[in-house]
Amino acid sequence: MRRGILTIATVGLLVTGGVAACGDDSGSDNDAGSDKKPKIGVILPDSKSSGRWENADRKFLEAAFKAAGVDYDIQNAQDDKNQFQTLADQMITGGVTALMIVNLDSGTGKAVLERAKSQGVATIDYDRLTLGGSAEYYVSFDNEVVGKLQGEGLTKCLTDKGVQKPVVAYLNGSPTDNNATLFKNGYDSVLKPKFDSGEYVKGPEQSVPAWDNAQGATLFEQMLTQTGGKIDGVLAANDGLGNAAISVLKKNKLNGKVPVTGQDADVQGLQNILAGDQCMTVYKAIKQEADAAAELAIGLAKGERKETGQTVKDPESGRDVPSVLLTPKLIFKENVKDVVADGFVTKEALCTAEYTKLCAEAGIS
Ligand code: BGC
Repeated sequence: MRRGILTIATVGLLVTGGVAACGDDSGSDNDAGSDKKPKIGVILPDSKSSGRWENADRKFLEAAFKAAGVDYDIQNAQDDKNQFQTLADQMITGGVTALMIVNLDSGTGKAVLERAKSQGVATIDYDRLTLGGSAEYYVSFDNEVVGKLQGEGLTKCLTDKGVQKPVVAYLNGSPTDNNATLFKNGYDSVLKPKFDSGEYVKGPEQSVPAWDNAQGATLFEQMLTQTGGKIDGVLAANDGLGNAAISVLKKNKLNGKVPVTGQDADVQGLQNILAGDQCMTVYKAIKQEADAAAELAIGLAKGERKETGQTVKDPESGRDVPSVLLTPKLIFKENVKDVVADGFVTKEALCTAEYTKLCAEAGIS
């Protein structure tokens, strides 16, 4: 992953001019821009693997499109690949001038991107890179850093607990999500040297199809049984999977004793942290991601190509994809309050009855 000097947070995106940016350069009537009224289509992946898609991404994208006064259509494929393709077809026929997707896997993602391109519709990979795809841009967080923060967070919590030679289990994200690969690269970069040196012991590892939380709980229960209860730390790839592991640990009266990681800073993850059942989460300021993607999409819809100042190499095609990669933040109990202060989660949603006292103790006022 190559990083440029410019970051969107500091300099914003640079407009390099009204180049006819989309599709081929044939100058046909299908090219976005010129006479067509901009309309942005967005396909979100599901509403179960993480609350972020419906609670944060939809909200912030809508706000950005409204503020810019452009038409938009945001749909959710509900983890159904056929539905994903149908939605894309409907949006393309319905006249979107730019399409933003969060793919369910690279195969269907790639097909959708190609179909859009053939119809002169510009595309953006939102949050997940489509391997071998043809999107004009990729907008996400630095996902290897996300994984690194998870590995570092778990290491800190295991050190705090003073566990010698801890057995660490992995609940990875979906095997078809390129982000899950990047997260694992990140946490492996921290934990593998510890496994290799014998400081830590590598426990069972499973990838959870479609990030399905219920399946995550079943898989974790099997891991716990298989090891005779000897798991000292759980690297769970997001808050949903972390909560799945915590639910099993609770049944075995092990919650709070075994540190569990997460990501997304969702309400449940933050509450689990306040309660001491979850070690850490990773806060990704989705507003920044949505704003950056919306700005690029609006540009594309008008036929402009903006400079992002950085690229990511698609490992399948070798293509350098113009990208925006934002910086994630590590959250422990001490700085849960930062997520509230940033307006990502409200105090009302977080500090419900049983969490009021914990919120006060954590300085959330
Ligand atoms: C996203 C995570 C999310 C996961 C499950 C990943 O691609 O980056 O934020 O938790 O998908 O939806």
